[in-house]
Amino acid sequence: MRDPNVNFNFLHKTCTLVVLLCCLHICVTVVYYVRSQQQNHQNPRKLDGHAGTSEAITEVPKSSSTLLTFNITVTEKDVQLEKCPDPSPLLVGPLRIEFSNPVSLEQTTNENPALQMGGRFKPKDCIALQKVAIIIPFRKRDEHLKFWLYYLHPILQRQQLDYGVYVINQDGEETFNRAKLLNVGYAEALKEYDYECFVFSDVDLIPMDDRNTYKCFNQPRHLSVSMDKFGFRLPYNQYFGGVSSMSKDQYLKINGFPNNYWGWGGEDDDIYNRLSSKGMVISRPNGVIGKCRMIRHERDQKNDPNPQRFDRIAHTRETMHTDGINSLSYNVVKVEKNKLFTKITVDVGKQ
Ligand code: BGC
Repeated sequence: MRDPNVNFNFLHKTCTLVVLLCCLHICVTVVYYVRSQQQNHQNPRKLDGHAGTSEAITEVPKSSSTLLTFNITVTEKDVQLEKCPDPSPLLVGPLRIEFSNPVSLEQTTNENPALQMGGRFKPKDCIALQKVAIIIPFRKRDEHLKFWLYYLHPILQRQQLDYGVYVINQDGEETFNRAKLLNVGYAEALKEYDYECFVFSDVDLIPMDDRNTYKCFNQPRHLSVSMDKFGFRLPYNQYFGGVSSMSKDQYLKINGFPNNYWGWGGEDDDIYNRLSSKGMVISRPNGVIGKCRMIRHERDQKNDPNPQRFDRIAHTRETMHTDGINSLSYNVVKVEKNKLFTKITVDVGKQ
């Protein structure tokens, strides 16, 4: 007959061992759980296609055999964004542009909810390749501006640019001075943000293809190369009017633009002369991608052809070092911001 005490002792030892093993298992599970949580804090997970958003991910600790799930919230500041791809995958190519039905600022504002005050935008999911200020010389062309904003905002957002739209409005009734307004736009935009590229655009020109990216290149870029007004071709090889872009470096190399072209014509030829005198060449998209439409209009008042333009163009190389961004003077009269653009009204003086 076996001693019952011996049986009880055996049972007691076995139970203690099982309890100890259970405790050990729980301890190991807790240690792995804590370690895997620490690792997730140190190396936040990259969210392909959802970077910058807040997203819940269900994770299973790899090294634990326990079926344990938990949620981690990855916030925008945890996620390291990558540079946006070039060209942007959002581009659609040729666009239908027409001006028969009027568009309103309200409609354009509602259709572009991602815009920030002042006509600013940057992509959420990637770092834009360039910070671009878009400068529009302006006076009494509100209907044209509405079309420009309606068509350009969606295009610029698809191009994934970090951009701002600056409408530089010449105050008063003196003769118009396009190039001086462009200089003002350059100076004023830089006071606001660290722009590296400047697109100078007439208010009545709309690109017909979103692959014509409104950014800067190794050489100064002429973007409106194929205008309906000129039968979709360049009027002459040196033509640099309409829409162009320059990096800060390129712009500063030529001392910016001339301030003394009052009235229509010649200032874009002067800019071309400045660029070529500094050994730069014009970069252009091809004639298909570079197609654009101009909104037809009567000649503006106080913007008659400038009779001095031929003489001035002939002397660009002598005048460009003393007339430009280094001699620019103006007075800001008013700054207004809405979701679609920043409007800076300036007194640029008179002839
Ligand atoms: C003027 C330019 C203008 C071009 C096309 C030239 O004669 O000097 O300013 O852009 O014609 O109209």
